[in-house]
Amino acid sequence: MARGGHFPQGLHDRYDGELHIALHPDRPTVVANFVTTLDGVVAFDVDESSGGGEVSGFFDLDRFVMGLLRAMADAVLVGAGTVRSAPTHEWTARRVHRASTALYAEWRAGMGVGSPQPTTIVATASGGLDPSHPGLSAPDVPVIVATTEAGGRRLAQVALAPNVRVEIAGTENGVAAPRLVEIAGSIGARLILCEGGPHLIGDLLGAGLLDELFLTIAPQIAGRDDATPRLGLVQGVAFTLTGAPWADLVSVRRADDHLFLRYRFDRDGG
Ligand SMILES: NC(=O)c1ccc[n+]([C@@H]2O[C@H](COP(=O)([O-])OP(=O)(O)OC[C@H]3O[C@@H](n4cnc5c(N)ncnc54)[C@H](OP(=O)(O)O)[C@@H]3O)[C@@H](O)[C@H]2O)c1
Repeated sequence: MARGGHFPQGLHDRYDGELHIALHPDRPTVVANFVTTLDGVVAFDVDESSGGGEVSGFFDLDRFVMGLLRAMADAVLVGAGTVRSAPTHEWTARRVHRASTALYAEWRAGMGVGSPQPTTIVATASGGLDPSHPGLSAPDVPVIVATTEAGGRRLAQVALAPNVRVEIAGTENGVAAPRLVEIAGSIGARLILCEGGPHLIGDLLGAGLLDELFLTIAPQIAGRDDATPRLGLVQGVAFTLTGAPWADLVSVRRADDHLFLRYRFDRDGG
């Protein structure tokens, strides 16, 4: 079983071929979308004030592909660090590539995805979220905040919008990756798009739950030094030589000097 298929005219003009994502029969499929520099950096600032947009140079086709993936997903999963780094963002297709909004909606409906917008699922141990963040307060975008008891107590003190549900699902260390996937499954999600950040994707990889990675490589080098450590694609987990996940390269696309790579970790094909 798969999600995707023929594009309506207009999307087809911008993405060569078709896009299908295989779905697991027994749990939601999890794919991630990131952009890195040639040297693997995902954000120039460690203080959460810049992110993928700056890394890609706000490259239009990177935003377009991000929109395609959001249009396919039942849920977009993000860590609170990513939410705090993007104070004006909303995790919808319309927000990332406004010009394609109608085409994305047409494609989503054609695929039979039940909801007009993907549910945003935010993982936070601390509960440190601004309730007025547009990504948490758009009335037509359902939001689940997956957190700890301490996070729940903190969130109980702020006025969250009616579209936001808080789910206490973790220990003081955070919410285990399988629980995050289970929460998405509990709302009927078959396809989860994880948009980071590096700590959250680290949790998913560590739990063996990341099925695919859509990785854009932007043609610049960020560098790092001791004073500027900078985040890489994966943080918070260090695999051993024998335990490191390997992936199959599913597709390579090119637009100008950016590369669009698609990898599958579930090497049996899902
Ligand atoms: N280039 C790209 O494609 C891309 C993509 C995404 C993000 N970024 C950038 O990456 C930077 C943020 O990196 P990051 O690693 O800090 O991002 P992150 O993984 O989104 O944030 C880490 C925070 O998210 C929460 N979190 C993550 N996993 C959790 C879990 N399993 N359970 C509970 N809470 C969990 C915790 O929040 P609390 O602190 O609230 O407990 C944690 O401190 C930003 O600059 C962002 O723009 C870049």
